[in-house]
Amino acid sequence: MITYNEKDRIFKLDTKNTTYAFGFLSDFALVHIYYGDFIKNVRFIPDEFSYMERLGSSTEHGMENIGCIDVLPMEFSTFGHADTRLPTLNLKYADGTCASRFNYRNHKIFAGKPILRGLPATYVEDDNEADTLELEFYDNVKNVSVTLVYTVYREIDAITRSMRVKNESSEDVFITRIMSASVDFTTVGNEYDFLHLNGAWVREFKLSRDPLICGSQEVYSRRGTSSHHHNPFFAMVHRKADENSGNVYGFNLIYSGNFTGGIEVDTYETARCYIGINSFNFNWKLETGEEFQSPEAVLTFSSSGISGMSQIYHKLYRTRLCRGDFRDANRPILINNWEGTRFDFTEEKIVAIAEKASKIGLELMVLDDGWFGKRNDDHSSLGDWKPNLEKLPNGLNGLADKVNALGMKFGLWFEPEMISPDSDLYRVHPDWAIHLNNRTSSLGRYQLILDLSRKEICDFVISSVADILNNTNIEYVKWDMNRTFSEFGSVELPADRMGEFAHRYMLGLYYILETLTSKFPNVLFEGCASGGGRFDGGILYYMPQIWVSDCSDAGERLSIQYGCSLCYPTSSMGCHVSAIPNHQTGRLTSMKTRGDVAMMGQLGFELDMSLMTDEDLEAARKVIEKYRKYRDIFHNGNMYRISSPFESNEAIFQFISEDEKTVILLYSNKHAVPYGPHKRTTLVNLDPNANYIEIEDEISDALITPVTKGHNYFGYELMKRGLIFMEKRDYSTAIHVFRKED
Ligand code: DGJ
Repeated sequence: MITYNEKDRIFKLDTKNTTYAFGFLSDFALVHIYYGDFIKNVRFIPDEFSYMERLGSSTEHGMENIGCIDVLPMEFSTFGHADTRLPTLNLKYADGTCASRFNYRNHKIFAGKPILRGLPATYVEDDNEADTLELEFYDNVKNVSVTLVYTVYREIDAITRSMRVKNESSEDVFITRIMSASVDFTTVGNEYDFLHLNGAWVREFKLSRDPLICGSQEVYSRRGTSSHHHNPFFAMVHRKADENSGNVYGFNLIYSGNFTGGIEVDTYETARCYIGINSFNFNWKLETGEEFQSPEAVLTFSSSGISGMSQIYHKLYRTRLCRGDFRDANRPILINNWEGTRFDFTEEKIVAIAEKASKIGLELMVLDDGWFGKRNDDHSSLGDWKPNLEKLPNGLNGLADKVNALGMKFGLWFEPEMISPDSDLYRVHPDWAIHLNNRTSSLGRYQLILDLSRKEICDFVISSVADILNNTNIEYVKWDMNRTFSEFGSVELPADRMGEFAHRYMLGLYYILETLTSKFPNVLFEGCASGGGRFDGGILYYMPQIWVSDCSDAGERLSIQYGCSLCYPTSSMGCHVSAIPNHQTGRLTSMKTRGDVAMMGQLGFELDMSLMTDEDLEAARKVIEKYRKYRDIFHNGNMYRISSPFESNEAIFQFISEDEKTVILLYSNKHAVPYGPHKRTTLVNLDPNANYIEIEDEISDALITPVTKGHNYFGYELMKRGLIFMEKRDYSTAIHVFRKED
C-alpha cells in the first residue's frame, strides 16, 4: 500500500481505488504530486515546477532552479521563509522568532496503524488492513523534530494523517499552529467548490456549497466544542461533480473541540486544504524532551461524487472508528421521556410510559434530565448525582427493577461535565468550575463547566458516574453537554501554558470517556450536546451513536439527517419519533412520516407514551416492525442521496444492502403541490438487467407509479424511468423495498 521510490524520492500511497503521492524536490521541500483515482506510476514531470517562480515571492536558497516554495504544492509547510501561505506548522522559539526549516531525517513504513495516545482515532483489527508511513524531519538550528504520520487503508479509500512534534533542544518551544493535514492542489482554484456543514441549535448540518475564491474559506469552532455552528468536515468538490459523479476530496478531523478547516486559494489558483486544531488562542509549550501529538485527520477521495465520498466515511467510521460490543450489534429501540414530561415526572409516570412502551416492543426506557438533586428545572443540581427521592421514592434501583420487570432495559441521562452554581458540589468546590481570577464567569443554561484540564476533577467525574453504574442495572447512558465555553483558562495553569487550556480540556474528556467506556463495556453510551453540538468522530470513538438534533420534527429532521450523512453513518444517528404538534415547529405529521424519517438512524421514541391512543400505539408498533425488518440495510448498506432538501422539495435516499440484493428507496417531500407535476425519481447503481421485485407492502399517498408488493421492474427501468410521485400531501413519505432476483 505504501512504497518509496528511492531514486526519485517519491512516496506512493495506494488504497484500493485511490493514489496519493508526494516527494522531495530537496531535503526540505516535500511536494505534493498527486491525489486521485488509482494510478500505477507517479513521477515528477521534468521541469514541472520550474515555471513556478514568481516576481514578488522569495526563493529559498538552493531552490533557484527548481521552483519557488511560495507557489509550489507543499506537502508540509512552515512559516518564516519563502512560503507565506497558512502553514501546516508554526513554532515560536525561546528567542521570539518563528522561522523553522525542517529537513528530512528518516522514515519508516510498516504494517498496521499505531494508536494515538490519549486521542480518538481510526484503528485496524489486523495489521494487514493498513500500512503506515512515519516521515521524520529535523530543524538542526532549533533542534526540533516533526513526524508526519500517514496510514493507508487497503480496502477503504481513506488516508489518515496526524503529526508529532518533539522538542529535542534545551529551551522551551511553543506550538502556535498545527494542522493535522494540509494538502496543496495546483491550479484548481477555478474548478472546485467548498462544501461544508453549518447551522445552529435545532437546525444543525445545513449543507452549503460555494465556489472557491481567491483567498480563504473556513469552517471553525472557537466555542470549546466542535459545535452546532460548523462541523469539523469539509470537502473540495469539482464544480461539475454531483452526488454520483465527479471528483470529491473529503477532510474530516477526529476531534470534539476547537478546530479549523479550510481552503486557501492563492493568486495562481493553487488550493491549500487544511484541517486541525484551531490556532486561535492556541499556544502549546513543549519543554525539553516533550512531544505533542496532533489529532487525526481523515482524507478521502472519490471520483463517484459526493455520495461516493460519504460511503467511504460511513464504512470507515462504522467499522474502524466506533468500537465495542455495540459497534456491530442491533442497538435497543428506546423510549425517552424528555419531550414527554421534561422535569415533571414521578416514578409512577415513568413506569406508566414503560408499560405502554413494552407492549409495542420497545426495549429500553431512558430516564432523561431531572432525576437527581433538587432538579425541577434547569437552574440547579448539576454535579449532585444522587437520585431525587421525591420523584423516585424507591431510588434508581426501585425504578430500574420495575422497568426490568417489564422486560425492558433501563437507561439514564447524565451531564457529567457540568456544575450548577446552585449545587452541593459547587458549594464545596466553587473552584472546580472553569473560571478566571477576578472575572465574572458567564453562564450558559444557568450552568458552569467543570475544569477537565485538571486530573482530580476528571477523576471525580469518573467516580460519580461509575458509582451509579456500579450500583444500578443501567444499560445505557445518554451523555449530554449543554453549553459552550466562555472564559477559556484554568486557574491551575501557569501563564505560559494558558493557551493549552481548550485542548487540555479535550484530553481530560477523552481520558474520562476512555476510562468509563472500558470499565462498562456492556453499557451503550449515546453522545449529545443540546442535540448535534458535538457530533464528531472524536465522540463516535467512545459512543457509537449521537443524538443528532433537539429538533425532532420529521420535516426538519429530513434536512438535518441529510446534511449529517455527508460524513457520518446512519448507524451513528440517534433519531426519535416525537409527539405532534411538534414542540419546535408546531408541525403536524403522521406517525408513518415520523417513523419513516427516524428509521434511517437508530430508532427511538420520545413522547409520553402513557397518553397515546390505541390507534397511535398500533401505528407506532408498525413503525417498529418495519424498522426491525430493514434496519440492517439502513445502517450497513451503501447510502446514495438522490434528491436534496436543500435544493428541492424532496429528500430522497437510496440504500443498497452489502450483498447488493436489497434496495430501499426512502422518499419524502416537504410541501404539497396541488395537482402538481409528476416527479420522477430514478434509482442509481442497480444491475440494469436484473429483475427487482417490490417486497414491502407500502401504501403511500404520494406514489402514483403502481408499485405494490410483488410488482417488478428491471434495473434499467428503475434507473431510467424510475418511480413517479405526486406531492399531494405535506410531508408524505414512502419506503419502497426491492429484492433483486437471482
Ligand atoms: C438537551 C438534550 O439534547 C435533550 O435531549 C435533553 O436531554 C435535554 N438536554 C435535557 O436537559
